[in-house]
Amino acid sequence: MLNHQNTVVIGTQFGDEGKGKIVDLLTADHDIVVRFQAGNNAGHTLVVDGKQFIQKLIPSGILNPGKICVIGNGVVVDINVLIEEIENLQNAGVVFDEFMISERTHVIMPYHIEIDAIEEEMKGNLKAGTTKKGIGPCYSDKIARFGIRMIDLLNKSMLARKIKTALLRHERMLGLKKFDPDELAETYFRLGQQLQGYIINISVFLDKALQKGQPILFEGAQGTHIDVEHGIYPYGTSSNTVSATACTGTGLGPKAIDKILGVVKAYTTRVGPGPFPAELPQNQSTHLRKRGREFGAVTNRPRRCGWLDLVMLRHSIRVNSIDEFALTKIDVLSGMEKIRVCYAYKIQTDQGVEEIDHFPADMDVLAKVTPLYVEHNGWTEDISQCNHYDQLPTAAKNYIDWIEEQTGIPIRLISNGAGRENILYRNI
Ligand code: IMP
Repeated sequence: MLNHQNTVVIGTQFGDEGKGKIVDLLTADHDIVVRFQAGNNAGHTLVVDGKQFIQKLIPSGILNPGKICVIGNGVVVDINVLIEEIENLQNAGVVFDEFMISERTHVIMPYHIEIDAIEEEMKGNLKAGTTKKGIGPCYSDKIARFGIRMIDLLNKSMLARKIKTALLRHERMLGLKKFDPDELAETYFRLGQQLQGYIINISVFLDKALQKGQPILFEGAQGTHIDVEHGIYPYGTSSNTVSATACTGTGLGPKAIDKILGVVKAYTTRVGPGPFPAELPQNQSTHLRKRGREFGAVTNRPRRCGWLDLVMLRHSIRVNSIDEFALTKIDVLSGMEKIRVCYAYKIQTDQGVEEIDHFPADMDVLAKVTPLYVEHNGWTEDISQCNHYDQLPTAAKNYIDWIEEQTGIPIRLISNGAGRENILYRNI
């Protein structure tokens, strides 16, 4: 189908671009699928043979029998969610061949979930609208070196010491008192025992696989614009969502990567607060939200919807070194008379009005930009039945060609529906 290369798949917008399905498809050409960042804040919705799966932790590749699925050290894992996910997949009859998790992966503890809510409350209108899964506090404990790793779960005395120290920090800093360190150490040691067989040094494992020529697919979660450094800080998530994290989050170097595929939804959505220049007003976004079923896979929150934004895409192309695009949910645009795309922003400066084509870091500036649009003709046909690119209506092809022209990135895959079969290959 495509070629056997070590490929990174990342989101180019605010997340929810439909990466899960693309990863699921590309898995056929790879032996190993690795998650390298985020946790159960990210949900991938997949439809296989009409059956829906929402994967939060285990790489979506698990639905392809015979593939090795790996959780990298850059991920943060809620052990209870992981165990539940393993059981659910097994109950659904999914063949659970080979699954492993890095010994260096950090564990989301119950106190992280509690702190997530406390910190959000503290932040007022600077809050990110988190998924309340303890992601940020887990990453901040990791960076402050108070974290608990998978390997620690297997060492009872180390685990007890680490939990005690972390709780001391949180008690002093936040007044958090409700957790009993001994009880937690006991529980998490027990959970660790359940997962013991999966915990390995994945850097060594993946390096051996590379040497044997086994192609690896690096599965990104979320999107570039909620990256902790390159996104809409402080409204985004607490991990790096960009392609370089495929290396730091697995223990491989940049030369391990052959190709970076950016997933672009044909319009833009966002869950959570913060500036969103090309956002549509509530009363004009019903078509996209309804047809695109734009509700959070993890939180079920309605997603904010807007037009495709080339300023965002250019930023993503640069910070990720994107080679190719997969364009998703193009079928959702069917029935719209006109389709707009933002190509630049207008901002007011001391010198007057200026047109910019880069994404501002100052959230106050970003909140005030005026998006400049190009308007395209829409199409009325339902395109989810198209099997070839050539069958698409001319207006849809024009829209696709234009995005390609403006960004300079070839669009290789076009997803025209939720199912595995709804995919159009192009220029291959
Ligand atoms: P957190 O990752 O739960 O800390 O949430 C931080 C921000 O990232 C919030 O605005 C979330 O809505 C957003 N976010 C986290 N995960 C996802 C995702 O998978 N898709 C889209 N937005 C996400």
